Amino acid sequence: MLTNVEHIGIAVRSLAASNELFTKLLNATPYKQEAVESEGVSTSFFKVNQTKIELLEATREDSAIAKFIEKKGEGIHHIAFEVEDIQAEMERLKNEGFVLLNETPRQGADNKLVCFLHPKGTNGVLVELCQEIR
Ligand code: CO
Repeated sequence: MLTNVEHIGIAVRSLAASNELFTKLLNATPYKQEAVESEGVSTSFFKVNQTKIELLEATREDSAIAKFIEKKGEGIHHIAFEVEDIQAEMERLKNEGFVLLNETPRQGADNKLVCFLHPKGTNGVLVELCQEIR
């Protein structure tokens, strides 16, 4: 079951510059900064009530964020939905015909197991499922 929009991911060229910008915009400082080596990204997280904003900067040229910015520029990269049981949700969505970008949940930032859906099957929106690691 999807429970809520957990966060919105935004691709940025410079995490340092965007941290400053979003600190002003949201009137809050990031509560967490974390590199995810396997994904080639550095992230920082802001909280607006229950909803988080995840800023993503590429740390390698071949990271998905580097390719995204090259193609589309900075901007909204993905919408992440919180799920109670990621395996069950992945199974359900697969049966509905959605294409999963990873067949098993991956370790994401912010203590989450994550799975992405191919944007070709979701009106061009990259959708992330995330489940808190308990
Ligand atoms: Co995310």
